[in-house]
Amino acid sequence: MPPLSPPDAQQFRAALGMFATGVTIVTARAADGSLVGLTANSFNSVSLSPPLVLWSLARSAGSMPVFSQGSHYAINILAADQKELAQRFATRNIDRFAGVAWREGAGGAPVLDGVAAVFECANRSQYEEGDHVIFVGEVESCAARPGSQPLIFHGGRYYTELPL
Ligand SMILES: Cc1cc2nc3c(=O)[nH]c(=O)nc-3n(C[C@H](O)[C@H](O)[C@H](O)COP(=O)(O)O)c2cc1C
Repeated sequence: MPPLSPPDAQQFRAALGMFATGVTIVTARAADGSLVGLTANSFNSVSLSPPLVLWSLARSAGSMPVFSQGSHYAINILAADQKELAQRFATRNIDRFAGVAWREGAGGAPVLDGVAAVFECANRSQYEEGDHVIFVGEVESCAARPGSQPLIFHGGRYYTELPL
């Protein structure tokens, strides 16, 4: 199928932007010990038993070789006070982990300090679709910080929750 033409592509983006999401940073440790991580809002739950989650990564992402070949990754769910971290992990040509506090999770994947929740995942399966690859992770361990407020992304802007 050909790519969408400009008005349709714009409409597609605008419609997607109406689906408010949380914001994650997905991290992994490369075989050479270096760390990779990127901001991703394509996260979602898949299955309770077994516990499965998914996220998708652009084929063009620099971190694709590490995620596609690695055994584990950590999905860090950002808290409302971590907007700068979200922006930093979407910025190219910087040391994203400079000054960032983290601990080693399953398979060496960095679990970031101060996150609202984390899912430590085994890299279970991958599905190539269009210009992205869908990653399904098997959750080996997860934790939520009680009382923390999530960072929310909607229509290109960041928010925090406002209960109705
Ligand atoms: C809020 C937000 C959500 C994003 N979600 C995704 C996503 O789900 N998948 C993706 O591949 N890129 C996503 N990006 C873009 C990546 O963070 C960005 O392209 C990053 O530079 C990719 O890193 P890499 O090339 O080092 O792998 C998102 C960016 C922002 C700001």
